[in-house]
Amino acid sequence: MKIKFIPAKDAVEAGRLGADIFTQTMEENPACVFGLATGSTPLSLYSELVLRYSQGKLDFSLVRTVNLDEYIGLPADHPQSYHQFMYDHLFSKINIHPRNTHLPNGMADDLESACWEYEKMIESMGGIDLQLLGIGLNGHIGFNEPSDYFPKYTHVVDLTESTREANKRFFTDIREVPTQAITMGIGTIMSARKILLLCTGQKKAEILHEAMFGKVRPQVPASILQFHPKVIVIGDEEALSVIRRDHPDFL
Ligand code: GLP
Repeated sequence: MKIKFIPAKDAVEAGRLGADIFTQTMEENPACVFGLATGSTPLSLYSELVLRYSQGKLDFSLVRTVNLDEYIGLPADHPQSYHQFMYDHLFSKINIHPRNTHLPNGMADDLESACWEYEKMIESMGGIDLQLLGIGLNGHIGFNEPSDYFPKYTHVVDLTESTREANKRFFTDIREVPTQAITMGIGTIMSARKILLLCTGQKKAEILHEAMFGKVRPQVPASILQFHPKVIVIGDEEALSVIRRDHPDFL
């Protein structure tokens, strides 16, 4: 087991510790490729990156990014699209060049080709140096939902009702939450040279424990991370509470 756990006091400290790992990756390679995530969890990390940039400590001019996923059917400028999320919380606030930022095209006429092109593009960038992940309540990573197999490449996925329910807080009505998305595959994520999983809040404590210490199985997609050679998990007190109770030696 090579997973390294870094405990944080709260979400803000988790963001700071996560930003340290981003900073280190940029110091090693100013033209590094970051795999980025959406959701509430990475917000503190993105704020910290923006802060460090505004203090002149970080330069994103050569950095390239690829995002995990995007809803199907939401135009890039839709307020709840992940394109817009990334623009609002990070890209518009740092000196990253728009042409160096990439998200799947959920509006493509030919979605299958769009998935394959995304996969090829990541490959042509030389792969992902650091992939940031959150975890869904059902153990999903990106939008790789529980399944009976691990999807390898970027693909179209039907969102589970529980995921749509969890994400409806961003929409006015559950009927507005898209039913499908494009997501990097489990193989795409596992190809990243380093993975940083951020996890905060009590409601994630059980699934985080199961993913990190349970059986590796596609019904808990995040469990595959146990097979990756370089995973760092930053969790706050609440998210790490079950691991602390059952596997105190790891913290
Ligand atoms: C969405 C995203 C995931 C994210 C998950 C958890 O489904 N596609 O990438 O990890 O939500 O979100 P949150 O951090 O808001 O709990």
